[in-house]
Amino acid sequence: MLDGKKMLFSGMQSTGTLQLGNYLGALKNWLTLSDEYECFYGVVDLHSITVRQDPATLRKRARDLLTLYIAAGLDPVKNCIYYQSHVSGHAELAWILNCFTYMGELNRMTQFKDKSAKHADNINAGLFTYPVLMAADILLFQSDVVPVGKDQMQHLEITRDIAQRFNNIYGDVFTIPEAYIGKQGAKIMSLQEPTKKMSKSDENPNASIFLMDDYDTIIRKFKRAVTDSDNQILYKDEKPGIKNLIDIYCAVTGKTPQETEAEFANCGYGDFKLAVGECVADSLKPVQDRFYDLSKNKDYINGIIKENGEKANYYANKTLRKVKKKVGFPEKIR
Ligand code: TRP
Repeated sequence: MLDGKKMLFSGMQSTGTLQLGNYLGALKNWLTLSDEYECFYGVVDLHSITVRQDPATLRKRARDLLTLYIAAGLDPVKNCIYYQSHVSGHAELAWILNCFTYMGELNRMTQFKDKSAKHADNINAGLFTYPVLMAADILLFQSDVVPVGKDQMQHLEITRDIAQRFNNIYGDVFTIPEAYIGKQGAKIMSLQEPTKKMSKSDENPNASIFLMDDYDTIIRKFKRAVTDSDNQILYKDEKPGIKNLIDIYCAVTGKTPQETEAEFANCGYGDFKLAVGECVADSLKPVQDRFYDLSKNKDYINGIIKENGEKANYYANKTLRKVKKKVGFPEKIR
């Protein structure tokens, strides 16, 4: 609790460029939370190096992501937006929690299995203990709630298990976090294979809409979106391509699938794809404009990085001091 507000942590990796799924599924929903919660949003760059990165690219992407958080509408005064690598407490707590996590638990993580299949030449220990670092992120801020997608639920479960285990030994040190199930974030699927999640690492550039795609590119990608051939705009599981386009349209406009079906009852796929493309392009335009403006304003962004980094460190250190004392590390001499 901080000023009577519950704590909230979430983060995104600075790997790849954000796509529409990250925006509609996560970021856009974060905008409404700061009145109710004390929000910490990390650019989780420590997580990114579990996969090999080019240093200059990683640095640029981390800055772009932080800037995008703000461009998308997160107020950096009400929300603590910072780089994970600027708060050494993440790594320190992760080490300690590593010693309270079992190999067997980590072996069960489906993301580890997927990622090690994908990066078979670099199955490093960091990839294996990734969920422990994520647990440290969450527990460091005594988070009550964590907005996460379905694919991260298993990591949240292990976080809760680790926290319980620690508390059972040392008393109430950590708040046990819950998943934030708010207004359902839209799950956006690939435009080329609509049964697969839209992903920033998809090799087919037509499969994803990137947040920085220009107007014409967005329209072109929607025109090429894979659908069935019966030319009826109906929200049905058997029509994953059209269902996905309806989901996207609803996430942007706030309409329901039923309203959308009615609106386009007399249209063919061509018109509908164009309408979805236009509403997405129009809604991203202000975010893109703000992003370009903010990117020019180096001093402003640097100020946020500095101030919010200090704030995050302050709260991180509070937890870390307590944890270190509990496990029996000697006190610092001042
Ligand atoms: N693992 C998350 C992902 O890949 C990112 C993440 C890291 C995160 N630490 C977190 C999300 C803590 C929520 C809370 O999407």
